[in-house]
Amino acid sequence: MNQPRDELIRAALDAQQRAFCPYSNFPVGAALRTASGHIYQGVNVENASFGLTICAERVAASAAVAAGERDFVEIVVVSRGGVSPCGACRQFLAEFNPSLPIVMIDALMPGVVHEASLADLLPGRFEGPT
Ligand code: THU
Repeated sequence: MNQPRDELIRAALDAQQRAFCPYSNFPVGAALRTASGHIYQGVNVENASFGLTICAERVAASAAVAAGERDFVEIVVVSRGGVSPCGACRQFLAEFNPSLPIVMIDALMPGVVHEASLADLLPGRFEGPT
């Protein structure tokens, strides 16, 4: 019974339907809640030039920032198998909240929730040039 989180999970599942992943066939959906209570969705967007692909987490984070929201509260990521965010996404998210709670959901078993803190997933992040 965690209504805000359930809403976030539904938003991530919804987003996953719109992933653009013709090369990997691995759709990922993300939903990020900010301090205002708003939810920002993201999907992976792939490209014929494979290296240009952007992950769902960074799309969601960028949508929030573009809307003027930088106070990240929680992110849900949905994929087959409920994978953990890649290193680039961890660094990208840590810019805004280094201890962001990350919820990983297997699209085939949306009721089973795995949670981690970004602080544990990314120790020793790069904090900028000295
Ligand atoms: N991907 C994400 O969108 N988020 C992750 O956390 C892991 C990987 C995407 C990138 C690519 O489009 C596909 O999944 C396979 O790597």
